[in-house]
Amino acid sequence: MQRNHNHPTIVTIEKVIDETPTVRTLVFSDEVMSKVLPGQFAMVWIPGVNELPMSVMVSEESGKAAFTVRKHGPASTGLFNIKTGEQIGVRGPYGNSFDLKKGKILLVGGGTGLVPMMRLLTFVSSSDNVTVLIGAKSKEEVFFEDLANSLLENNTHRVIVSTDDGSYGEKGFVTDLVEKLVDEAHYDGVYVCGPEKMMYKTVQSAHSRNIFVQASLERMMKCGVGICGSCCVGADLACRDGTVFDGEHLSKNNEFGHFHRNKAGILENY
Ligand SMILES: Cc1cc2nc3c(=O)[nH]c(=O)nc-3n(C[C@H](O)[C@H](O)[C@H](O)COP(=O)(O)OP(=O)(O)OC[C@H]3O[C@@H](n4cnc5c(N)ncnc54)[C@H](O)[C@@H]3O)c2cc1C
Ligand code: FES
Repeated sequence: MQRNHNHPTIVTIEKVIDETPTVRTLVFSDEVMSKVLPGQFAMVWIPGVNELPMSVMVSEESGKAAFTVRKHGPASTGLFNIKTGEQIGVRGPYGNSFDLKKGKILLVGGGTGLVPMMRLLTFVSSSDNVTVLIGAKSKEEVFFEDLANSLLENNTHRVIVSTDDGSYGEKGFVTDLVEKLVDEAHYDGVYVCGPEKMMYKTVQSAHSRNIFVQASLERMMKCGVGICGSCCVGADLACRDGTVFDGEHLSKNNEFGHFHRNKAGILENY
């Protein structure tokens, strides 16, 4: 029977990987999810808990995909606590994807915003020169550094980690590093996913220097398919029109980086 991507497909978790004390990767078999484009997401149903949007993580094994979840509130904690052999529902994939330029590329990821960046790395060609910036609060929250290096083993590349408290890598905010790098050299494309303030500053740094830049927006999502309106960013719906938007478009959006909607749909300052 043909799969209806708006109906949850039930998958069994085959492996659980501890990335940090609060972040885990759950691996499952699913041909459709194993082939999603970078930037696309799924709606994940945790039985008896809730459904939440998640970027689709790469898996080293063919035919497999994964979710990398940070334990936060009830839904993400429910997913974080799923064990090998237990089942979840997955619908999608939804959303558009990054427009990957060729040449000198800069990828910027904060926290689980690194998930779509890791998938993007699997699409770069070996002639691309790639810089990956990983932002974290402290050393124990750094993950995917080794994975980024191994995905880029055939490229000229560097992976730079910055921690807010300086306990590992460079000290300071990842956005300060972005500013420094785009001042030093021209990039053909800059790609970012993470906290919206981080994305806002990255987009500003690149766009103001006429560098092509795209951000994958993580807004409050309920339906994931453009019906409920909970993910609106100005006139855009992040789930339907994004999640990937380019800097030119975002520079004209008055909500991006300034306001977000809470669970009740009320506009709040960041
Ligand atoms: C496209 C997309 C991809 C995402 N990918 C990942 C990922 O790969 N890994 C990961 O750990 N998290 C990811 N998230 C965030 C994740 O969906 C939320 O953190 C999660 O839903 C929080 O739910 P909670 O019940 O644990 O937290 P709550 O305590 O209910 O909320 C904590 C915070 O999480 C955010 N949040 C809550 N509910 C939602 C929701 N339905 N949609 C979006 N944000 C919400 C809000 O900022 C809220 O303030 C993604 C979000 C989006 C929109
Ligand atoms: S999540 Fe419902 S419209 Fe985007």
